[in-house]
Parts: sequence; C-alpha cells; structure tokens
Amino acid sequence: MESHPHVRVLRGKKIILGVTGGIAAYKAVTVASRLAQAGALVDVLMTEAAQKFVAPLTFSALTGRSVATDLWSLGNGQIMHVALAREVDLFLVAPATANTIAKLALGLADDPLSATALASRGPLLLAPAMETGMWLNPITQQHMQALIQRGAFTVGPMEGRLASGAMGIGRMAEPPQIIEMARKVLGRNGPLAGVHVVITAGGTQEPLDPVRFVSNRSTGKMGMALATSARDFGAEVSIVHSPLQVSVPFGVASVPVRTAAEMRAATFDLLPRTDVLIGAAAVADYRPATVADQKIKKKSGNLDIELVRNPDILGEVGAQRQQSGRPRVMVGFAAETEDLLANAKVKLESKRLDLILVNDVSAPHSGFGTETNQVTLLDKWGDVLPWPLLSKDEVADRLMVWVARRIQGKGLADLGA
Ligand code: C5P
Repeated sequence: MESHPHVRVLRGKKIILGVTGGIAAYKAVTVASRLAQAGALVDVLMTEAAQKFVAPLTFSALTGRSVATDLWSLGNGQIMHVALAREVDLFLVAPATANTIAKLALGLADDPLSATALASRGPLLLAPAMETGMWLNPITQQHMQALIQRGAFTVGPMEGRLASGAMGIGRMAEPPQIIEMARKVLGRNGPLAGVHVVITAGGTQEPLDPVRFVSNRSTGKMGMALATSARDFGAEVSIVHSPLQVSVPFGVASVPVRTAAEMRAATFDLLPRTDVLIGAAAVADYRPATVADQKIKKKSGNLDIELVRNPDILGEVGAQRQQSGRPRVMVGFAAETEDLLANAKVKLESKRLDLILVNDVSAPHSGFGTETNQVTLLDKWGDVLPWPLLSKDEVADRLMVWVARRIQGKGLADLGA
C-alpha cells in the first residue's frame, strides 16, 4: 500500500502557531504535534505568560524548528517575527487569551506574537480560551467582532469546565476541531471553491418493525473521506447519510436520513444547488413491503418477508440530468464481487454517470469497513484507470483532483494519475 501519512492541504504549509498564557496552552502541544506530523512547517511563537505553562523546548522538539519567545529572538540570523511574517499560509493563535485578542484587535506589537501578527498578511485563525466573564465582556466581544470583520476566522470557545473549576463558555476548542478548522481555512480558495459537492453515504436502514431493519455492512468511511477531502479542496459540502459509525467532518453540512426513500427525497431537495453529486451510499436495493406497527412476535414455523424494490437514486438523478443541467458532475461507486469492469460499465451508462469507481469488495483490504480501497476508474469517454491499493483518504483526494479537472472541462486522459 502507498503510505499516506501527510494531509494534502497541510503538507508543506507554513503555519505560525501563536501560544498565549492560558491553561489550554498544554493542548497547543497536541495541535503543534499533529500539524507537524501532517506535513506542515510549524513555527511557534510564545508569549511570556505561555512559557509559565509549557516550556518552549516541548514545541521545538515536536516541530523540529526554533521557537520565538521574545521580540528579539533570532532565527537564521534574522529577527524571527520579521522573517516569519513574510510568508505564512496560516496564523493560528491557540489558545487566544482576552489580552492577546485585545492586542490583535488594536494593533499592539509588544511581544513576538502580536508583533508578527501585525506584520503578517496570512489568514488569522483564533481559538479563544478564557473565563466566561472575560469572554462575555462587551469589550472582548467588540474586539472579536473587529477581528472577524477584518477577515479573521474563529473556532470555539466551547461550553465546559474552565480553569477555575466553574462550568461555562470559554473552554478552548479541542485540538482535532482546531486542526479541522485550520484545514478548512487553508483550503478555502482551493480548486473547488464556489462548488457545492453533495455526497450520499452509509448503508440505508429499511425498517421491518419498530425495532428491526434490513441494512448492510457499509460504515460510511469512504463517504466521510470524500466529504473531508472536498472541504479541504475548498468546496461547500453536504452529506446525505444514514446512521453512521463515523462522525461527519467539521465544516460539512450533515443531512441525516434512514431509508432509501428519505435519502432520495433529501438528494432531490438539494439538487437545484448541486454542482457535483457523488453517490457513495450503499443504498438497500429492496425494502420490506410493509412495516409492522408493533414488534413482530416469534411464532412456530418460518417467517416470510416480502421485499420490494427501492428507488435508484443516482439512476433517477441521471435520468433528469439533461433537462436540468444538474448536477454538472456525477460520480458513482460500484461494489462488485465478479465481472467488475463489465458490471461497472453497465452502471456508468444506465445511471448516466461521468465516472464510476469500481472496487472488488471480496478482495482483502478493500470495501466495507476497511481503511483502504483498491479502485479502478471508468469514465464515460471509455477511459479505464486502475489505481493501486490506497488509503480511503488518498482515494478521496485523487477523486477530488479528477472532479476539479472535470469542472474545468477535462477528462481522465488529462489526469495522468
Ligand atoms: O446499482 P448499484 O447499487 O451497484 O450502483 C451503485 C451506485 O449507485 C453507487 O454510487 C450508489 O450510491 C448508487 N445507488 C443509488 N441508489 C440505489 C442504488 C445505488 O444511488 N438504489
């Protein structure tokens, strides 16, 4: 399998992580570590108060880069805040105390963090953390509004236990949320900016009675990887999903459904504003003909269940594509156990898809519940492209490259991937 430890949107990105003096500074260690592991170049700036909570050495050991702790710190012989501010993809402040937020809003520059922020042109992402009274104080709110109006992004604060032991709003967002928001900010002008991507995901549940349903082994992992990747490429993303074993990614609109009929209705509701539709759901082909009002009691002898056909969502969307012009791009998945390519080709044509990704769900490391997928791409121009065994994240990223090119009017042949 091709290893893929890096996150595409973070790889090689220059991120300044400003750490201020709040108890949540210890969580900034996790943020720095995860960003560095994902391939970002992380330069940490610490206020004096932050150094009371965490040692600079912790950050430099995790990022492999020097940490600026005073205004006159040198990096490569240059004054660090001047050098750093020049090229920065993201300026993240986590935790952002009320004091630092006030300085940033007013343009003060008396520590390495505020001085670099003032000199930098990169997008600012703030993860505020403070006691409830400080957060709710109108002066803090005014400073936040001023920063947001000037283009700053924010994540949190959340409700929860604060440093004082009290419960309330003011707790810093958790590191995974901060990283997800950082990805969203970094991807905002990506190749799918301004494009609405709708994804169907998960296995539909077709009720038999109030406690039982017919379903399948789909976990929704592929759909979530697709949603994350589309978001990182700058798209607006909606995911129409049945109950899942994985959570919906940050910054993605969740449209929960249960049955194929509900999934169909939700997909058609979104259709007038859908640019790209990706059908990653394992839609049950059949549903019980009747749903019992009460739990079905066991009796001696067998129980026969009559099943009726469910709507083919992509098939119906495909049938009206020519009239409505929506979606501009439509992608399906085919889970097969035999005659992979021949079966996939029939689906590509009958559902009027642009592209179908076919995988052999009986092969090891591919299909339901696995972390990886081995897919072959077939497009409507007759191109066939087998991909190696890849993580689902990498499959999603490669598909988004194809979708972005398709939006620009190019086919698989141009992809060379
Ligand atoms: O026909 P089959 O189920 O193999 O087709 C798979 C593709 O069609 C997937 O993209 C799936 O999400 C979509 N599909 C659908 N509605 C169905 C069945 C499949 O949208 N009822």
